[in-house]
Amino acid sequence: MASPDIRKIYIETYGCQMNLADTELLLGLLKPQGYEPTHDASQADVILLNTCAIREHAEERVLGRLGVLVRHKARNPRVLLGLAGCMAQHHREKLLEQAPFLDFVVGPDAYRTLPALLTQEENDAPFVSVRLDREETYADITPVRGEGVRAWVTAMRGCDRFCTFCIVPYVRGRERSVPLAALLAQVRELAAHGYKEIVYLGQTVNAYHDGTADFADLLRQTAAIEGIERIRFTSPHPADMSERIIEAMATFPKIAPYLHLPLQSASNRVLQRMERGYTIEHYAALVERLRAALPDLALSTDIIVGFPGEDEADFRATYDFMAQVRYDSAFMFKYSPRQGTKAYKWGETVSEEEKGRRLQEIIALQERISREINRRLIGQTVEVLVEGPAKRQPGWLAGKSRQFKTVVFPGGQVQPGDLIQVQVRDATAHTLIGEARSPMPV
Ligand code: 5AD
Ligand code: SF4
Repeated sequence: MASPDIRKIYIETYGCQMNLADTELLLGLLKPQGYEPTHDASQADVILLNTCAIREHAEERVLGRLGVLVRHKARNPRVLLGLAGCMAQHHREKLLEQAPFLDFVVGPDAYRTLPALLTQEENDAPFVSVRLDREETYADITPVRGEGVRAWVTAMRGCDRFCTFCIVPYVRGRERSVPLAALLAQVRELAAHGYKEIVYLGQTVNAYHDGTADFADLLRQTAAIEGIERIRFTSPHPADMSERIIEAMATFPKIAPYLHLPLQSASNRVLQRMERGYTIEHYAALVERLRAALPDLALSTDIIVGFPGEDEADFRATYDFMAQVRYDSAFMFKYSPRQGTKAYKWGETVSEEEKGRRLQEIIALQERISREINRRLIGQTVEVLVEGPAKRQPGWLAGKSRQFKTVVFPGGQVQPGDLIQVQVRDATAHTLIGEARSPMPV
């Protein structure tokens, strides 16, 4: 029997992995108050959307969902409905004009205030808690993680780079790192609980520095923890990719040969207006050094098309660079003006139609390259960390290769968490299709 003190919270998470990790953090903060997660909004005492503000589309989706979820309040007025995350921080009180039924709005540095605001007396005015805090890392909070083989671990919060298109520094505040000792203690605990893969998170995760230790130290010391089989991190910034980090990646096989290295644009003119802090020559040289040190490295990237002032020649430069580097995969976006950023004041110079055309062009290019790269793996054997049932093929299992490619294969004697050898039989742009070489874990 559930205790009457137990309250159910339903959370929908939007945006990046940082937000997924923050949802686990929110659950950790609320657990001592008797809150348990539920997947069923109609059973919930509290409904919370953990939101993203990176592009306008992300915000529109949340407003649409709010319109649907408010029905639970109509049915039971004691249900509390609130917004957390970057969109909450971005719009603050203004959200109450668009959605007057909201009970609370809480920003990424104010999550400690949430337990108190949820126990406020009924009919109180909506609560807006959006103070940014230069120190807050939540290092003492144990997140409530889902089942699985992979654990997200937030290594640093915020961003100091202020790329001119990006809202993140305004909604997540200044950069700050979780102390090394706290991170290592957390990872040891995760290993003891059976997690096999650690993914360190941060907006510019490789800028990690706790005053004494840098990101290379963190990687090296994590690699020494027994039970952890794989280590990844996202997202590194190209300008913070030190030789020490590359060396650590080359030294420890546990550190996955996979790197998400956001490019945004390959035109120096555009990179400069974006204030990215590197030239295309620097970036290309970095890729060369990485590939020399890590021969089996898989690379992915982020690209924005239609940034203010991007002309056809700038776009061509990006297209040609992508064709030359041959990323394993890419996340490609149309520029979305964000109020409060520097670029917002420049307006838009590329029409929606033209942005769409540029986006389609690089998506088609990337699809072809991804397929070619993956199909070259046919016949080879890859090491797979088994995660669980495949999404589309009943009875099949899915996992990730060391290069972070999704691999599906007919199930057998293997369990989630096993490391097995899979022979690749077929491949699409996004998936490797294989057969377990050994029925037993290797
Ligand atoms: N418009 C489009 N894409 C953006 N990104 C960040 N801000 C914007 C914006 N205003 C993209 C960048 C970043 C990724 C997380 O989202 O490519 O690397
Ligand atoms: Fe945004 Fe640039 Fe910071 Fe990334 S590095 S979060 S793109 S400001």
